[in-house]
Amino acid sequence: MEKLLINGGACLKGTISCSGAKNAALPMIAATILSDENVVLKNLPYLQDITTMFELLGSMGAEILLNENMDFTISTNELKEKEARYELVKTMRASILVLGPLVAKYGEARIALPGGCAIGTRPVNFHLDALEQLGASISLKNGYIEARAKKLKGTSIKFDGVTVTGTENIMMAACLAEGTTILTNVAKEPEIIDLAQFLNAMGAKITGAGTDEIIIEGVKGLHGTEYSIPADRIEAGTYLVAAVITKGDIKINGINPKRLTKVLDKLVETGAKITTTNDSISLKMDLEKPKPVDITTAPFPEFPTDMQAQFSVINALADGVSNIYETVFENRYMHIQELNRMGCDIQVSGNHAVIKGVDSLYGAEVMATDLRASASLILAGLCAKGKTKVDRIYHIDRGYERIEEKLNYLGANITRLPS
Ligand code: UD1
Repeated sequence: MEKLLINGGACLKGTISCSGAKNAALPMIAATILSDENVVLKNLPYLQDITTMFELLGSMGAEILLNENMDFTISTNELKEKEARYELVKTMRASILVLGPLVAKYGEARIALPGGCAIGTRPVNFHLDALEQLGASISLKNGYIEARAKKLKGTSIKFDGVTVTGTENIMMAACLAEGTTILTNVAKEPEIIDLAQFLNAMGAKITGAGTDEIIIEGVKGLHGTEYSIPADRIEAGTYLVAAVITKGDIKINGINPKRLTKVLDKLVETGAKITTTNDSISLKMDLEKPKPVDITTAPFPEFPTDMQAQFSVINALADGVSNIYETVFENRYMHIQELNRMGCDIQVSGNHAVIKGVDSLYGAEVMATDLRASASLILAGLCAKGKTKVDRIYHIDRGYERIEEKLNYLGANITRLPS
């Protein structure tokens, strides 16, 4: 298994560009199932999760072509299989995103039930309840979700809990339903707005994405379009944290700062100086030690759970004590044990972490457990004394495009060790 070897101590300086957002791209690739024509996606990040989603569509009979500009043309006309097999779903829970489009377009879907994962049980009951309310009949057999519907029918649905991929799944399904669907208690993440814009570009009639209520007027069919994936706010946030903990001075191009207002507010609280334009963020850290910041994760527009692990590293080095409350996932502190092995002083009790700032971190051999946990270990390695070896980095390759290349470009010293 490949590992990353990080020689800590470099101060990050320079300018990099943000890649396309994984969490915007995955639902868009799934949404191409709804289209009667070819769809062209541009600016897709080169990530394992994107490859897995293409593998899934390919296994159902989709044709995917890549041109010299790295644009993907996806043709899902007349899929032969309407099934997402366990081998693929177990490596990527977001495979569930094909459920709504398959049922809406073909009237049937068979999707392996995603199992538990490192950060919690992550059930899909909200997706299934909402799809039933649109008129699908759903049964669970041999570890698979089997869903059928002659024609989905628009209705009013209030989600029992806020779910990002659940909102996306049902928004996609409702595009081809008969009549109007009104969704409430929905997720408001920027990726929901991106998906609605993408679907509207294919001829859907969606309003209200990004607010508390999404209204979808069903249409007969969707047509092709060309669409560019917007920038990844979590990738940008992760590099900004890297600059804070290395006393750096960096600029990230291609990212709209409004996508991460809460994160930027918290970075300013650490003592970092931030300047923005419509599509760039610059951060300079002059303080010797960051100030501690309290964080409570919650659905957008609150602080994202996908940035919690990275902020643990800022707080680990901060001048004082801080508190983190993780309210979205029940087990998202897997990185803490590993960070403590690098000299951090973090105590976890339930969903609450108390972090006492220490003078320095020390390099160690550590193990990544999930995507954002691996990011936090690499960050810790950047500012640790000595060498840090991060194992199981396939987690990081799921969600960060060329992470060591981008960080090395800013002055870090990271080597990928072959397996
Ligand atoms: C998405 C993101 C992930 C991010 C998360 C929260 C993608 C591909 N992934 O994941 O990066 O960390 O949002 O911002 O966009 N829940 C249920 N039943 C359900 C669905 C969810 O109980 O049917 C619970 C989950 O266990 C979790 C919470 O709701 O505790 C939020 O999960 P959800 O928003 O669905 O996360 P994902 O969409 O899987």
